[in-house]
Amino acid sequence: MNKAVIPCGGLGTRFLPITKTVPKELLPIVDVPVISHIIDECVSSGLTEVLIIISPHKEIIKDYFKRDDRLYDELMGKGKTELAEILLSASSKADIKFVTQYEPLGSAHAVSLARDFTGDEPFCLALGDDLTVSEVPVAKQMIEAYEKTHSTIIGVQKCEGDDIVKYGVADVVSNYDRHNLLRGIVEKPPLNALPSRLACYGRYILSNIYKYIDRTPKGKGGEYQLTDALMLQCQEEKVYAYEFEGKRYDMGDKFGALKAAIELSLNRKDFGDDLKSYIKELAATL
Ligand code: G1P
Repeated sequence: MNKAVIPCGGLGTRFLPITKTVPKELLPIVDVPVISHIIDECVSSGLTEVLIIISPHKEIIKDYFKRDDRLYDELMGKGKTELAEILLSASSKADIKFVTQYEPLGSAHAVSLARDFTGDEPFCLALGDDLTVSEVPVAKQMIEAYEKTHSTIIGVQKCEGDDIVKYGVADVVSNYDRHNLLRGIVEKPPLNALPSRLACYGRYILSNIYKYIDRTPKGKGGEYQLTDALMLQCQEEKVYAYEFEGKRYDMGDKFGALKAAIELSLNRKDFGDDLKSYIKELAATL
């Protein structure tokens, strides 16, 4: 498997006002946009071909990944090789293609636009709201789970808080070694009707999915929902929820994004140690 699909359709209303003009996928963790971190996860999992699905008002995401030879030459000319390399690596992470979803017809419709790109091969779907940090990249863990089951796999983790109502939640039939055979997924259930505590955190290996997307009727909000297509697949095939290891940040949420920025920055070579001292000093004054 070497293909990943990243849908960037959402309006990012939870992150207003900045998302009036900056797509949420380009919001930075200091100097690197979220989507670039997600592509890093894909590439380090062996997924070197990436399709980004954008809406018409998110063309700027294409610009981010375009090569800027003029600026590169200028930086090199001034001897700023390190900056020139940073600039170049931003646009040469993977083989990235784009497709535009002209109408907001839902997540299943967005995925259907990847059909020509993926063909009949299974692929990884990575949602931009979910940033993960782990020893083995989460997409790689998911691919390994797929290689054991040859079925669609949904990445989940236990969510003990009330926040679980914001996610798709796994309805589990049986469990073996982190693999949970699914009866279905319940999208954003109320707290008094949770089928489990396993929340879907934006990583999927989709296999044979288009057949079910084609049969999915319009659902919530009058849109074609991926969860509805996955429900259909659960009724006819084995679908598993895999409990991946690692830390996951909700990048669609302001506090989640701030936590990610702080925690990821603690490991930076250039100012991680300074940040640690600063946080300790600051904490002493609180
Ligand atoms: C989507 C999915 C949901 C999943 C979530 C993960 O919801 O529909 O099942 O748990 O992403 O981030 P959204 O965030 O688009 O409301």
